[in-house]
Amino acid sequence: MKADDWIQRYENSIMNTFGRPQTVLARGAGCFVWDEDGHQYLDLLGGIAVNALGHGHPNMVKALTAQIQTLGHISNFFASSVQIEAAEKILQIVEPGGAPEGSRVFFANSGTEANEAAFKIVRARGARLAAENPGEPPRTRILALENAFHGRTMGSLSLTYKDAYRAPFEPLPARVEFIPYAMAALERAFEGERGRDIAALFIEPIQGEAGVRPLSEHFLRLAREMTAKAGALLVVDEVQTGMGRTGTWMAHHAAGIIPDVVTLAKGLGAGFPVGACVALNQEAATVLGPGMHGSTFAGNPLAAASVLTTINTIEEEGLLANAREVGEIWSREIIALNHPLISEVRGPGLLLGIGLTTPLAKPLAAELFRQGFIVNAPDTFTIRLAPPLIISAPQTRMFTKALPEILDQVAHDVEMQVSQGKPVGERREGSHHV
Ligand SMILES: Cc1ncc(COP(=O)(O)O)c(C=O)c1O
Repeated sequence: MKADDWIQRYENSIMNTFGRPQTVLARGAGCFVWDEDGHQYLDLLGGIAVNALGHGHPNMVKALTAQIQTLGHISNFFASSVQIEAAEKILQIVEPGGAPEGSRVFFANSGTEANEAAFKIVRARGARLAAENPGEPPRTRILALENAFHGRTMGSLSLTYKDAYRAPFEPLPARVEFIPYAMAALERAFEGERGRDIAALFIEPIQGEAGVRPLSEHFLRLAREMTAKAGALLVVDEVQTGMGRTGTWMAHHAAGIIPDVVTLAKGLGAGFPVGACVALNQEAATVLGPGMHGSTFAGNPLAAASVLTTINTIEEEGLLANAREVGEIWSREIIALNHPLISEVRGPGLLLGIGLTTPLAKPLAAELFRQGFIVNAPDTFTIRLAPPLIISAPQTRMFTKALPEILDQVAHDVEMQVSQGKPVGERREGSHHV
C-alpha cells in the first residue's frame, strides 16, 4: 500500500495532535530509514534525539529478543536483576566518577514523566520542610527559564514556557515563575529573603525545543551556586541532552556541577520508551517513600534491558568520542560552506542547531525531507540535527554537500511564493531521494 493511502487511514484512526505525518516509514537500518513507497532517507533527527544506536542495532535486537523470551513485564510488586543493573549503570554514568553516595533512580516511561517525578520530589520536599520548620516561609516557588520545554503532561506543562502549549489547558496545576536566561535575572530571583521560599530551579543545559540554545557554563555554575545557597533544589533536565548526545554522558558535565536531580529519557533506551529521574543526594533520594509515586510499566525488564544495552553499546563502540568528533567536523564543515543564509551552528556533539539569517527553517526542513534528509525546524530560524550517535563523518557530508543548493532553491521558491501572495512552505511534488 502507498504511503498516501496509509496516511488516509492514519487520519481516520489517530487523533490529530501531531498534524499530517510527512510520510509513513516502513523500516530502518543504521542511519537510514525507508518509507512505504521505498524512498530512502538519511535520518539526521534520530526520532528527535532518541535513536542513539541508529535503527536495528544488532545489540538491541539481541538483548530485547532475549529479554522478552525470558521475562517481559512483571509490575513493581517485583524487581528484576536487569532493572537493578540498569539503575546501577545509570548511577555510574550520571556523574563523572559515579553518582554521590545516597543517589537513587526512579524509572519512568518518558521525559515528561521523569520530570513529573522530579516535580513530586520538589513538592514533597517543600511540604516536609514546612512541617519541620513552621516559622520558615513555605518553599513553594518554582523557577524555570523562559523558552523552557519540560514536557506535555500537566505538571511538566506548568514548567514549559510556550503559551500555545499551555493556554488550552489553563489553569495549570502549578504557577511557575519563568526567568530570562541572564545571570542578572537569576541573581535577582534569588536576592535576599526572596531565595528562602524557592523550592527548585528547573533548567535544560541546552534548550533543545527552543532552537538548540546552550546555556553557558557560567550560568550553570551560577544556577548551582544560587540554589545551593538558598537551599533550593537544582533539577537539570537532560532528557534531550543526556546519554552521550553532546559528547559527554550528560551535558552538564562540561560545567563541572552536580545537580540535585537529573531527568533522562529519549536516548536512555535508544528507541525503547523509558525515562529516569535520578536524585543525586540522600535528601532528594528519600523524599518519595512507599506509595507516594508509582507507574505500572516503569522500569520493566524490557525497558531496563534497553537501558543496559544502550549504555554498554555506547561504551563498547566509543560513541561519546564519535559524537564529539563527528559533531565538531560537521559543524566546521557547515560553517565552511560560508553560505549567506547560514548565520551560525550551535551546540556541542551531535545536537546541532543551524541558525539561519532568514525565517526559512520550516520550508527548508520540508525540502530537505523531499530530498531524502530527515531534520526538523524547532523554530523558523533553526534546523535541528540530532542523528544517531553512530553516524560517520562521510554520512554527515552527504547532507553538508547537498545543503547549499537546497538552501538556494528554497530561498528562491519562497521568494516566488511571497511575490505571488501564496502561503510559504507548501508541499511540492516530484521529489527525489538519496
Ligand atoms: C528537555 C526535554 N524535556 C522533556 C521532554 C519531554 O519528553 P517526552 O516527549 O518523552 O515526554 C522533552 C521532549 O522533547 C525535552 O526535550
